[in-house]
Order: sequence, then C-alpha cells, then structure tokens
Amino acid sequence: PNSLALDGKRVVITAGGTREPLDPVRFLGNKSSGKQGIALAQVAQRMGAEVKLICAHVDIDIPEDISTVRVSTGLELKNQVENLSRDADILIMAAAVADFRPVAYEEFKIKKNADTNDAPTIELVRNPDILREIVVRRQQEKQQQPAVIVGFAAETGSAEKSYLSLGREKLVRKGCDFLAVNDVSNNAGFGTDSNALTILSKFNNQEIHCEGTKEEVSSELLLAVAQHLSEPLT
Ligand code: C5P
Repeated sequence: PNSLALDGKRVVITAGGTREPLDPVRFLGNKSSGKQGIALAQVAQRMGAEVKLICAHVDIDIPEDISTVRVSTGLELKNQVENLSRDADILIMAAAVADFRPVAYEEFKIKKNADTNDAPTIELVRNPDILREIVVRRQQEKQQQPAVIVGFAAETGSAEKSYLSLGREKLVRKGCDFLAVNDVSNNAGFGTDSNALTILSKFNNQEIHCEGTKEEVSSELLLAVAQHLSEPLT
C-alpha cells in the first residue's frame, strides 16, 4: 500500500565520499562506500519518486536506471546540490562531505627529499557545510523548497553524552527537518550492507529506531518523510 508513497515527488540524494586533492596523485578521502545513499535512491525510485543522485566516490556500481551526476570534491558536490535542490521536494544528504580540504593544490606531485627526513605540513581550510547552507537558503526564500531536508550523522557518543543526545543537538544546529543518526562507535555502517539508524524529527520528539539492510532502513526513512509530506506538522 505504501509502495507509491512518493509518487511524482522530486528527490535529490547525495551519496559517497568526497575526495579533496593534494596533488595529481593524492587526495584526502573517507570510508564512505556510498551504499546507503544508493539504497535510498533505489528505494525512493521504487516508491514512485523522480530521483536525482549526486554521487561522489563509491565502492559499488550505481544502478543504471538511476539518473546520476558524478562529483569528486566537496565544492563540486555543493554546486550540484545548490542547482538540483532548487526545485526538489526532498533533499537527502547521505554523502560524507570532507569537513576540510587542502588550502593548496600542488600542480606537480609532492616529492620527498631523498637527503633528509623532512615531511611537509598540509594546511587545511574548512569546506562549506552544504546541508546548513541549503537550510538557510530555504529560510530566506519565499518558495519553501526543498519541503523536506534530511541530514545524516555518524556519531560515536562521547564520555558525557550518548550518540543520540549528540544527534538531537546536531538536528537543532543544522536546522534540517530529519536527521538519521548512525552509531558508528564500532564502525557499524561503513562499507557494510546493513545499518542501524535512529531517525530524529524536528517536528516531534519521536525517535524511530531501525535496523536492517540499507534498503530496509531506507524504506523506514522515506516512509517517515512521505508521512510528513502528506500530513505536515509544524
Ligand atoms: O556535521 P556533520 O558532518 O556530522 O553532519 C553530517 C551531515 O551534514 C550529513 O548529512 C552530511 O552530508 C552533511 N554535511 C554537509 N557539508 C559538509 C559536511 C557535512 O552537507 N561540509
């Protein structure tokens, strides 16, 4: 009965990990496999959505029937998100965007000095927080699009706070509508086919905990989003 819960909705999904280049052969990357974002794209499409996948570096093949734009760096991802989310109903930021990028890109491969043990210091700058920027843009514009903005957060918890209370704080700080929080203390989630997520909503204090394959948790998340679109709480 819920299979077409997203019928005709325009959904933009980011997936994978960005790579921030240092020189022609090196980059700063991360462990994102892209499996969660690709699963979301497949399930959303099955639920009737018009999906656009913005895909950074992934470890698996992207299904051919998913309309995909490839990107590499955080700044490229940002450009695509800005353009494609303009007329989207739903934006889901499942990509692992590098928080920092090297200040300089060296045109030639960085060489070690054969005569010394010297090592270079890599200077970094912050990458823009794309999720936060889209939330702010929506606040500033009359057209309140995307109607639903979903973030992901990988948390390990800390000595003082559980990963869920850190997730609640992040939901508020980012200002998105839903936050899918991943407990990564045992590296769960990265690269695997299964995931455990807690879905937090800005509209109520409900916490939807789901575990299963990345497709199963995708359905849970997309159903929560579809539910909100059909009966928005404010
Ligand atoms: O702050 P943190 O990186 O934990 O937030 C994760 C969420 O923010 C994810 O949805 C991720 O796609 C998004 N993000 C972003 N731009 C960044 C870093 C993270 O949009 N530079």
